[in-house]
Amino acid sequence: MSTVVFLGGGRITSAMLAGLRLAKTRHRLVVHDRNPGKLRDLKKRYAVAAESDLNSAVKQADVLIVAVRPNSVREILRAIGNVDRPLVAVGLAAGVPLRVLSKLVGPPVQWARAMPSPLCRSGRGLTAVTFPRTLSRADRKRVHDLFAAFGQVVEIPESRFDAFTVIYSCSHGYHALATLARIGQAAGLDRNTALLASAHALADGIIAWRDGKDSLGTLLEEAVTPGGIASATVTQMDAAGYGRAVREGVAAGLRRARANAAK
Ligand SMILES: NC(=O)c1ccc[n+]([C@@H]2O[C@H](COP(=O)([O-])OP(=O)(O)OC[C@H]3O[C@@H](n4cnc5c(N)ncnc54)[C@H](OP(=O)(O)O)[C@@H]3O)[C@@H](O)[C@H]2O)c1
Repeated sequence: MSTVVFLGGGRITSAMLAGLRLAKTRHRLVVHDRNPGKLRDLKKRYAVAAESDLNSAVKQADVLIVAVRPNSVREILRAIGNVDRPLVAVGLAAGVPLRVLSKLVGPPVQWARAMPSPLCRSGRGLTAVTFPRTLSRADRKRVHDLFAAFGQVVEIPESRFDAFTVIYSCSHGYHALATLARIGQAAGLDRNTALLASAHALADGIIAWRDGKDSLGTLLEEAVTPGGIASATVTQMDAAGYGRAVREGVAAGLRRARANAAK
């Protein structure tokens, strides 16, 4: 058992704590945040130790998870005094690279990055991790195993981390669901039926593809009868710029990630 300390007790920390508790983690969990109300709430919901003092939180850590927003990373890391013992720290902040993190708090602290999503709350998450060459095999395994408690873990090079961050966001699904359901309502469905039909339309086929053996091409062919309604719908969506809208959205996300690195 080791002590995992979270700096920042917001959305992603809450989701990770839920996932870790669901997995019956044996780690001791500590959270530091500047909002006493958030600490009280997390303590009550997930039986974590709440630590209002930054440096005493860091002192307890075997693994340190930095889960503040990108524009707070510098402030919180500068407020940590010298760390005089080996410590593995994991940055979650979108776009903030290893070189920036290790400049703010250098050796003996060793950095990794991870990109989970709130889906870790359900134990069905996916997390990308990236490690510097200098991180030992034992420390890589430690970080990997922590995130594997609530879903699949993929290791990718840091050069691809921003692309993963932009593409792997459950907001894509929620956004598509909200859009399709809104248009379903405009087409005459009541709100509940529009949401139900849209959720099944978007989610069930994708889960069937993920869990099954059929290729995406085969499933698309099965679902879209030439000359039929689905064919007319998706053809018009493509002609209206569906692909362009997604491409431009992803490009905006990548620009934001690059801006986070420079903040
Ligand atoms: N949300 C996600 O789905 C997700 C997924 C993967 C990665 N991430 C990354 O995880 C990080 C956190 O995201 P989030 O959505 O969880 O943010 P959030 O809900 O805003 O939580 C951040 C928490 O950290 C606190 N905080 C900020 N600066 C602090 C400081 N100097 N000392 C103590 N506490 C401080 C904030 O307090 P205040 O509200 O008072 O500022 C807030 O309670 C971001 O960098 C994001 O890129 C998020």
